[in-house]
Amino acid sequence: MPQQLSGKTAIVTGSATGIGFAIASRLAAEGANVVVSDIDEAAAKEASAKIPGSAAIACDVRDEDQVKALVEGSVERFGALHVMVPNAGVARAMPLVEMDLAAWREVTSVNLDGVFLAIRHAAPAIVAAGGGSIVTLGSVTALAGAPLIGHYAASKAAVVNLTKTAATELRSHNVRVNAVLPGFVGTQLVTGQAESFEEQSGMPAGGFAALMDQKQGRLGTVEEVADAVLFLAADSASFCNGTGLLLDGGLNASLF
Ligand SMILES: NC(=O)c1ccc[n+]([C@@H]2O[C@H](COP(=O)([O-])OP(=O)(O)OC[C@H]3O[C@@H](n4cnc5c(N)ncnc54)[C@H](O)[C@@H]3O)[C@@H](O)[C@H]2O)c1
Repeated sequence: MPQQLSGKTAIVTGSATGIGFAIASRLAAEGANVVVSDIDEAAAKEASAKIPGSAAIACDVRDEDQVKALVEGSVERFGALHVMVPNAGVARAMPLVEMDLAAWREVTSVNLDGVFLAIRHAAPAIVAAGGGSIVTLGSVTALAGAPLIGHYAASKAAVVNLTKTAATELRSHNVRVNAVLPGFVGTQLVTGQAESFEEQSGMPAGGFAALMDQKQGRLGTVEEVADAVLFLAADSASFCNGTGLLLDGGLNASLF
């Protein structure tokens, strides 16, 4: 079977670890020239070394100059840009009434500003290459309230809306823009917050895992998210534009 992204170049932000690393690996396995990008330069280089043919470019997605340099550096390295995956994201568990503005911005600056900047600077390069695809990372939390991660959920709802606007603005330039909306996946972003979530919710130890079992059946895997991103990035999704692909084990399907 021919590789789905042969000859294409893709940037994945926040791809030194977690879901981003799985996406970068999956896109590379389908023939893409992948740029592994992360705020942690050493980790990005280490991750890139595990993906043959990839390049590492450090970038803090909150910094416009760095995002611009990431896009320019990728085009310089591989000749063009066809796929952008603004994946970098952070989460911190805390109730709204204890959240100061700095804590709000710590999350929204990465999760929302970072996605805006990635679209803003990648889109012209993708247009210049003749078209391509942008796949954002939304979340099931974009669809309902999410206690203790109000900033995170609000940023993800905004990302889904931004994705739709970008899809309609860029359609005539042959650029598709879609989102994946994962449920809870077993990465540091989730497991690293589980204890704090339990404490602040008054749950016993292990309560978060039990909640996941009840709501989703299990935690999702990074490979499952990467497969969904690949689908939207590749031509097999040629008529998908402005959509949000929910992969949450049924979490959002039922009230009970
Ligand atoms: N894990 C989940 O359950 C889940 C569910 C839905 C959506 N998501 C989304 O998937 C994406 C990846 O999440 P993950 O679970 O792999 O997280 P993770 O914490 O495992 O990895 C996040 C990566 O982003 C990098 N990063 C953080 N701040 C950055 C910045 N300012 N600039 C560049 N890179 C930065 C980190 O260094 C890290 O390598 C995020 O957007 C997250 O919101 C995750």
